[in-house]
Amino acid sequence: MNSQAQNPVLSATLDAVGRPLPVFRAPAPLASHGPARIIAMCNQKGGVGKTTTTINLAAALAEYGRRVLIVDFDPQGAASVGLGINAHELDQTIYNLLMERGADIRSIIRQTAVENLDLLPANIDLSAAEVQLVGEVARENVLARVLRPVLDDYDVVLIDCQPSLGLLTVNALTAAHGVVIPLECEFFALRGVALLIETIDKVRDRLNPRLEVDGIVATMYDPRTLHSREVVQRVHEAFGDRLMHTVIGRTVKFPDASVAAEPITTYAPHHSGAAAYRQLARELVARGDAA
Ligand SMILES: Nc1ncnc2c1ncn2[C@@H]1O[C@H](COP(=O)(O)OP(=O)(O)OP(=O)(O)O)[C@@H](O)[C@H]1O
Ligand SMILES: [Mg+2]
Repeated sequence: MNSQAQNPVLSATLDAVGRPLPVFRAPAPLASHGPARIIAMCNQKGGVGKTTTTINLAAALAEYGRRVLIVDFDPQGAASVGLGINAHELDQTIYNLLMERGADIRSIIRQTAVENLDLLPANIDLSAAEVQLVGEVARENVLARVLRPVLDDYDVVLIDCQPSLGLLTVNALTAAHGVVIPLECEFFALRGVALLIETIDKVRDRLNPRLEVDGIVATMYDPRTLHSREVVQRVHEAFGDRLMHTVIGRTVKFPDASVAAEPITTYAPHHSGAAAYRQLARELVARGDAA
């Protein structure tokens, strides 16, 4: 038993907005796997921590024995590169699955160096799909259809969205059960979130009634600055308990880990950044948003 499991339910500490911070216990091992819950990591603002959160949350869930698939759904291929997969040299990627009937998802999925963590890679080819899908029947449902054959193999699927609210992102929201919104702790963070929530509401009404906002994760938080603290307070005022307790601190270890093409959980396993993503994984499980 780890020390945490012996703690009372509420620790003495408060979260970044002054709420009592629950103790999120290490989740029990799973006796069987699947079907996966699909979570889209979404924010049309660039550089807010979508890819960093996708990779590190996925790696933390995988450490807890969850089988996790990352879907790289950005033509920049940052999630693929960040896990050491040179997607630019692959000739079969998610693009082929979206555009070619009969392409086999299992032959395109790659194992990563992290146990329990697989990747559906993307590269710049995906940028053509946005245009080519426009003329398709049920063009918003293509990703959902493509993922269906492997959902029983995984407990969680995380989709790393590109910074846009275009057709690819609408496909991600249509395939998903939940949305996690990473939000950078800086002054204009809230700009655009109303539009994102509006888009999520439209997708729920028209395409995917089960879609939920699982939570907003504050990233690049610096507790020493009044500014960071004000931003999370404003997010809490606007979105209440959709703001997750876990905040991700700002640290150069994240870009360092990307250069090493590893999650922080293996690159610097004892760093506070690794601990933060493990806590986020436990919080999601505790909320029922992941197995
Ligand atoms: N908590 C953090 N502390 C410091 N740097 C971070 C943190 N999270 C992410 N970064 C860095 O910020 C940059 C943007 O992060 P990331 O690529 O995860 O954002 P993104 O939302 O996926 O961007 P894009 O919209 O371009 O896809 C990267 O260089 C990343 O290493
Ligand atoms: Mg990204």
